Amino acid sequence: MTEVRVAPPLVDVLLGPAERRAALERDVREGLTATPKRLPPKWHYDAEGSRLFGEITRLPEYYLTRAEREILAARAGDIAAVSRADTLVELGAGTSEKTRLLLDALREAGRLERIVVLDVDEETLRESAERLAREYPGAAVHGVVGDLEQHLGELPREGRRLVAFLGSSIGNFETAERAAFLRRLRGAIDPGESFLLGTDLVKDPARLHAAYDDAAGVTPRFSLNLLSVLNRELGADFDLARFRHVPRWDPERELVDIRLRSLGAQRVCIRALGLEIDFAEGEELHTETSAKFRPSGVELELREVGFDVREWWTDEAGDFALSLSEAV
Ligand code: SAH
Ligand code: AVI
Repeated sequence: MTEVRVAPPLVDVLLGPAERRAALERDVREGLTATPKRLPPKWHYDAEGSRLFGEITRLPEYYLTRAEREILAARAGDIAAVSRADTLVELGAGTSEKTRLLLDALREAGRLERIVVLDVDEETLRESAERLAREYPGAAVHGVVGDLEQHLGELPREGRRLVAFLGSSIGNFETAERAAFLRRLRGAIDPGESFLLGTDLVKDPARLHAAYDDAAGVTPRFSLNLLSVLNRELGADFDLARFRHVPRWDPERELVDIRLRSLGAQRVCIRALGLEIDFAEGEELHTETSAKFRPSGVELELREVGFDVREWWTDEAGDFALSLSEAV
């Protein structure tokens, strides 16, 4: 039998252990000494956080992933045809599960040459890049361990690119950070290249609440995992049983605001930082924002930075949208 040789994926580490550690220390020192206390959501994603997010995507209440997959299954051929891309760049890729639908469509169109996947979680990214290299032996696979807020300018520029940012992960940026991210992204894309963006739409608050507070308790475990990351990486002594996951729909800002509430007054020691942090009874630590969108708002935000929306699709139920834009 002839052995099929697969080129191993190239992996660039732009956020190596030392940079990651310095960024985590800075964010934790700033965030836990601020009022109100807050931590950026990217620190949820160590290997366990990514695994828990995978579990979330399969929960009955978490419609987002299924709705986006439904749109991709129906429209991947259109996306390949409109973008005429030979290179797929996926931001915040995770395990790139739904992305296979796009990759298959590009391969069927006879154009798939390159796959670039960027994520902050090195372990998940390396495993995923290796799997993609095995499944798409005709394409060069390039992994980038990096931060979306720092490393967009260092994305590989070869080929005609379709940049995908799926899952409504754009909703995890705060409003000002989102605008800055989109502007930097536009700066990293050439005119004529495409941007595929997944956005979760504003809907019945009860459904939104259930999606972020599932009956099986997986989302609370995902939220609390952030404290486990601090315990392991910074020698902190958070007692996870003394914090509760609290998601709230904010109707004015149209976002789900996620916090960890302290169950009682307590002092937490962050050994690596020489910090002692006091939590009052009921005090909340902000851990994540998940903004929800309206079509007109998405179009406006994209247009403001130099993207023209060419196509707009939703799933049958109208829960989730994918927009395909061209950099102009
Ligand atoms: N795109 C996948 C995964 C979404 S989960 C999907 O649609 O299902 C969000 C992903 O973004 C995680 O894999 C996480 O590690 C990554 N991520 C979060 N913040 C990031 C940041 N600042 N820079 C790079 N990756 C980030
Ligand atoms: C990755 N991101 C889009 C998820 C969301 O829905 O905001 C993260 C998540 N947090 C709790 N559940 C899911």
